[in-house]
Amino acid sequence: MAYGNGSAANSGSKYKTEGLEQFLIWIREDIAGEIDATDNYQYHIDSIDIPEIKEILAHIRDEEKEHIAELTHLLQRFDPVQNQKFEEDHFENEASSKASSGGFTVGNV
Ligand SMILES: [Fe+2]
Repeated sequence: MAYGNGSAANSGSKYKTEGLEQFLIWIREDIAGEIDATDNYQYHIDSIDIPEIKEILAHIRDEEKEHIAELTHLLQRFDPVQNQKFEEDHFENEASSKASSGGFTVGNV
């Protein structure tokens, strides 16, 4: 990543982040990491035919999804602009968004 390694505030870098803004950067990086982990577990689930292993990996994958939700809630609580974006309704109604999924579900073993 181009920012947010925690050393910018003291390194003379043009990225002067500290305090809450640095925390928000770390949270965004953590969310990205959790999403990447989730996708990796799903890839491994899809790549193996041993049910016991698939089940364990699916459990771990779902824990990563829980982490994504927890971190996203933190971001919502402490980033006012992000909170505003969450508050905005990007779909006219729930029925139209469900219909647009085409009946597909993801994340199953
Ligand atoms: Fe995690």
